[in-house]
Amino acid sequence: MKITVVGAGYVGLVTAACLAEVGNQVLVVDQDQTRVLLLQAGGVPIYEPGLEECVRRNREAGRLRFAHSMAQGVQQAELLFIAVGTPAAVSEAIASALRRRGRSGSPFAVVSNPEFLKEGAAMEDFTRPDRIVIGLPAGAEGERARLLLTRLYEPFNRHHQRTVWMDVCSAELTKYAANAMLATRISFMNEIAALADRVGADIDSVRRGIGADSRIGHSFLYAGTGYGGSCFPKDIRALVQTAASHGLPMRIASAVEAINTEQKQRLLQLVLELMGPDLSGCRFAVWGLAFKPNTSDMREAPSRSVIAGLLARGAQVCAHDPVALDEARRALQHDLESVQLEPGQLRWCERPEQALQQADALLILTEWKCFQNPDFARLRALLRQPLVLDGRNLYDPQLLEQHGLAYLGIGRRNRL
Ligand code: UGA
Repeated sequence: MKITVVGAGYVGLVTAACLAEVGNQVLVVDQDQTRVLLLQAGGVPIYEPGLEECVRRNREAGRLRFAHSMAQGVQQAELLFIAVGTPAAVSEAIASALRRRGRSGSPFAVVSNPEFLKEGAAMEDFTRPDRIVIGLPAGAEGERARLLLTRLYEPFNRHHQRTVWMDVCSAELTKYAANAMLATRISFMNEIAALADRVGADIDSVRRGIGADSRIGHSFLYAGTGYGGSCFPKDIRALVQTAASHGLPMRIASAVEAINTEQKQRLLQLVLELMGPDLSGCRFAVWGLAFKPNTSDMREAPSRSVIAGLLARGAQVCAHDPVALDEARRALQHDLESVQLEPGQLRWCERPEQALQQADALLILTEWKCFQNPDFARLRALLRQPLVLDGRNLYDPQLLEQHGLAYLGIGRRNRL
């Protein structure tokens, strides 16, 4: 099939690469000329496991091309994907490209096909989806679209029919409801973790206990420093606002967001309880900056508010992330625009051990695999004070205590 994907961002590139991989001719159109040039030259502007190789393979095979011109995209495609943050603007550009070619009368259908791609596992999610949600308009155009999309998604439906058909409005609400449900599980567990600390229970045992109920299941039950990223925060807010515009308060979704905002400050709060409000003279090692592992994405990452909070109270911060250092530097530069830092108050470390030297505590903010089994004896030797604040419940508290490290997690029977 001939397909145009508008938007060479994270969703657009993954979609385009996966559709080219199964034999379609895909053209990706983006208004950002620099990005298009980079892609044409074989570069990939985002980090997503498996994406770079897939783009290269399909570009070399001539199935995946990149262009700047919307007219070219509209001209060649049977199917256009809009994968940008401002779809209304793109629809207008498509409509005017059609008008210019005298094709404004051509029949077409606008379909809602929400993506359920997790950053860090997006290629896998696209090619082996749990479900494909498609919202169709009524009438003959909708039916034509159904045939086209059945054919398009056939390679991803081989062993099992995964497409859930519905109307456009329901498909849009499905997307918001799915993300809100997942975010609700996280905020719920974060609230139970706070109670676990008060009553002396261990949230990890509680998680395993409730997750074993097949009606509940194990996923998205991990308490931590709160959810970040571009999707959950944005979709929860959109849900609350849409409901408000219909005169309906979304009480659960509003509470989910409020709890998350507080949760992002939880590690900072622990630091302040331990060390008092003035942190000048204290140094903190931070491991993990991206909002979650396997991505360099810093959007709404909890590390941003924790680091800004530490610096504002006079602390020094030495931060490490295996992938997100450059993006973190940019994000923090933006957050700290109006803050006057001392020279060397915030340092970026290429290696995890570098960050530990002479630190008064190690803070874990992203559960990267490479942080899972550090040499605890060496870690202890490098730290000025043997203290680990684990915002992702990555470690076994007993094991750390055996290594002489004081440990505080989220809902792990914190002893202050
Ligand atoms: C999310 C959804 O999982 C995707 O299905 C959806 O397509 C995507 O948003 C989107 O709307 O585009 P993503 O934001 O990439 O994907 O990341 P998740 O893996 O869902 O994690 C979101 C946040 O929740 C992360 O900050 C993560 O650390 C946090 N989280 C996740 C927890 O704190 N606890 C958990 O148990 C799970």
